[in-house]
Amino acid sequence: MSSDARPIGVFDSGMGGLTVLSAMEARLPAERFFYLGDTARLPYGTKSAATVEAYALAATRLLIAEGVKMVVVACNTASAVALERLTRELAPVPVIGVIEPGARAGVAATRNNHIAVIATEGTVKGGAYVRAIHALSGDIDVVQQPCQVFVALAEEGWTDSEVTRTAAKRYLGPLFRGASAPDTLVLGCTHFPVLAAAIRGVIGTGVAMVDSAATTAAAVADALAAQGMGVAESGAHGAPTRGAPTSGARTRFLATDSPERFARVGEIFLGRPIAASDVELVDLRSLP
Ligand code: DGL
Repeated sequence: MSSDARPIGVFDSGMGGLTVLSAMEARLPAERFFYLGDTARLPYGTKSAATVEAYALAATRLLIAEGVKMVVVACNTASAVALERLTRELAPVPVIGVIEPGARAGVAATRNNHIAVIATEGTVKGGAYVRAIHALSGDIDVVQQPCQVFVALAEEGWTDSEVTRTAAKRYLGPLFRGASAPDTLVLGCTHFPVLAAAIRGVIGTGVAMVDSAATTAAAVADALAAQGMGVAESGAHGAPTRGAPTSGARTRFLATDSPERFARVGEIFLGRPIAASDVELVDLRSLP
C-alpha cells in the first residue's frame, strides 16, 4: 500500500470550513491537515466573482507552498466561482470543492423532488447548486435563498440566539409554507451547520437538512484512494515531510487575522477545542 504523509490543505473564507474539516478528521483518521481561514477578507459571499477568485487563488497557493498533497475548497462561494480556475492553476495537485458533494447529499435526501438551497449571495447568484443538482437529476425543483447574514451570525458564535432565530424565520419561513414545500434543505454554505438548531426551529422536523461535510469527506477519501495518495491506515505517518504539521498536532491552523479569535470561535465549528498556539497568523498579500 502506498503512503503519502503530506497533509491535505483545506481552505475557507473563515471558520465555516472547519465543519468540513471535522468530517474529514473523523473519516480519515490517519491523515494530517492544514486549514487556512482567510478571516481578514471574510465575507466572500458579498464580493464579486473576480475578487473571490483572486482571494481563493492566493489562499490555495499558500497551501501549495506549504507542501499539501490535495486542496479541499471548503467554501461554497469559492467552489462556485473559482473551482475550474483553481483546478487548472494548482495542477497537478488535485482540488476538491464542496458544491457537487452538497448537491449529491440533497439529491439523495429528497423524496418529493423539491430542494431548497440556502447559501451566500455569491453562490446563489452563480447558480452552481442548481446546475450541480440538475446534473445529478434533471427533474428536481430547486429553490434558492441567499442568507448572507447567517455568515456574520455564525462567525460571531451566535448559533442559536434570538437574533439568529429571527433571521432564520425571515429567510426560511416563506420557503417552507404550503403542501408542495421542499422536503429537503441543503445548507450550501459551510458556515451554516452551526446554525442548525435555529434553522430546524423554523423548518420543522419533517424536512431533511443536509450539508456538504460528510459527502465531501467521502469524496476526498475516494480521491485519495483512486490516486494512491492516502496515508496507509496501518502504518505510522512516516518520515516528516516538508509541510507536515509540526509539534505533533494532527491539524495545523493558519488564519489571516486574529489567531486568538480563530481559536476561540473556531471550536464551535470544529466541535473540539483549538489551542491559540496552534493557529498561525499569515499574510496572503505578501505572496508573489
Ligand atoms: N463559508 C463560505 C461558504 O461556504 C462563505 C462565507 C462568506 O465568506 O461569505 O460559502
